[in-house]
Amino acid sequence: MVPGLHRLLQLPRQLLFRNPFKGDVATSRVWITRPESRDDTLPFPHPWNYRQPLEILETFFSKAGGQAGSAKHNRFLEVPFFSPVLITREPPVIRAVLTATGDKEGQFDRDTTPSTGIARATGADTLLFSNGPSWRHQRKASAQPFGKNSLYQPEVFQGFEATFRKTILERIQALHKLLAESHEDSITIQLEPEIKTVMLEMLVNNFFGAKIEYTQLREKYIPAIDRIIEHIVRDTVRNRFDMNPLKKRRVSRRSRQLREDFEAFEELTDIAIEPRHRNQGAWARLSDEFSDESIRSNVKVFLAGALEATTSYATWAISHLARNSEAQEQVFREVAPINAFSPDVLEQTQYLSRVLKETLRLTPSLYFLPRRAQENTWLTLHDGRRMYLPKGTHILLDVWHANRLEEFWGVEATGAKADVFAPERWEHIERMGAVSKDFLHFGFGHGARVCPGKHLGELEIALVVGSICKLFVFKAIHQINPAKAGVSTKPLDGTLVELRLRKAD
Ligand code: HEM
Repeated sequence: MVPGLHRLLQLPRQLLFRNPFKGDVATSRVWITRPESRDDTLPFPHPWNYRQPLEILETFFSKAGGQAGSAKHNRFLEVPFFSPVLITREPPVIRAVLTATGDKEGQFDRDTTPSTGIARATGADTLLFSNGPSWRHQRKASAQPFGKNSLYQPEVFQGFEATFRKTILERIQALHKLLAESHEDSITIQLEPEIKTVMLEMLVNNFFGAKIEYTQLREKYIPAIDRIIEHIVRDTVRNRFDMNPLKKRRVSRRSRQLREDFEAFEELTDIAIEPRHRNQGAWARLSDEFSDESIRSNVKVFLAGALEATTSYATWAISHLARNSEAQEQVFREVAPINAFSPDVLEQTQYLSRVLKETLRLTPSLYFLPRRAQENTWLTLHDGRRMYLPKGTHILLDVWHANRLEEFWGVEATGAKADVFAPERWEHIERMGAVSKDFLHFGFGHGARVCPGKHLGELEIALVVGSICKLFVFKAIHQINPAKAGVSTKPLDGTLVELRLRKAD
């Protein structure tokens, strides 16, 4: 067939807005515009709305309230010349799609459309960007040092835990000093920059075994990565909707800075890989069969991506606790007697782990997960329902809104309202003896492409959040807690808190 002809043949169907999906899961159409309504915007990222991705996701579900059953949570979008799009916020559908993702025949791929900007910044040969056999190779090449089996070996774990703890204590003591020198009872401070630096320090110095000065990380590398991430988000949209005639002039003004930032990123990548030649840090557990060059792009993904995700997770946890003093006190009481975390201790800090789970449920760092159907596929859900997705379908899993649906996460199912921070909901779920797979929040993904950095990330977050609770009392300046979103989500106020030292009893 002439390339593109099948799209042309689809045109009448698309113009009629006929539902491309079949089966037991009802879907309804996305409203593109309706003049009498104020809440419709264009339901795809473009140069005027790309800074509000959470609002774009909401737009997909505009007027969904009037639909019955699954049609409320599953929507289709058919635009002439584009493949069909399924947007779902129904947890069982999300679970089924993630379970059916992988490198086996007929399984879904990760849709790479939203990560083209990332691939241009890091190289395309990464775990994030590749699919099929190439993804399998990447996973084997670089994910092994992060795995639970590898990280949770007693001597490996103790080594990382001790250096992570030392790094965190040094940074927290600096905050402590700042507070003491202010001669005030409390200071008002945005904690996001402090947390971000400690996260990069743990990753580069403790995990990869490099030695970079704190001030270098904070003043040189973090601002460079921040600007690159901002560029990635812009670049992804700009290269799809390139319609600005002034672009060349505006880009060239920014481009000198950006060139320097990319140079700094290359330099940081060299610094992170160098300890491999001395078998330092996590490198000791990576097979020699993979060359430095073959893992270089992945190291960049780990540096920028993991920094974003861990900073997001920790800042949300602190932000929620800053608005919930009772939960903060309970974490304090649990961590106060702990001097070192071991896998056993981590298992025992039950309340802290409920706080962290609840954080990732209510405010997931990665707020949507993209997939693509490689073949015409019948998807089977765990409750037996089936759904037909044509080849090429873009599948957008809206985790952010799925995790806030009262119907699945609300009072009846979990004992607390879905849109509030309530760590005790997890105790309720445990008491009900619920099957854990029925309450998946997808904060680390699910299935074959689950986050390989989950165990490393969880350890880092537990240490940072536990240490801050141990030494300080913190209170949010603003009671409401809106999100900003780009590559990941974070609290809009930069985690602005009033910070006090805990008084010894
Ligand atoms: C602690 C905070 C973290 C969170 C919340 C998080 C979240 C996620 C999620 C949701 C996915 C799945 C994406 C999808 O299904 O499309 C993912 C994948 C991934 N994460 Fe993480 N992550 C975290 C930390 C890390 C760390 C520390 C690393 C590495 C150092 C890392 C590296 C990756 C990579 C490489 C993938 C792609 C895996 C694949 O496709 O096989 N993450 N992460």
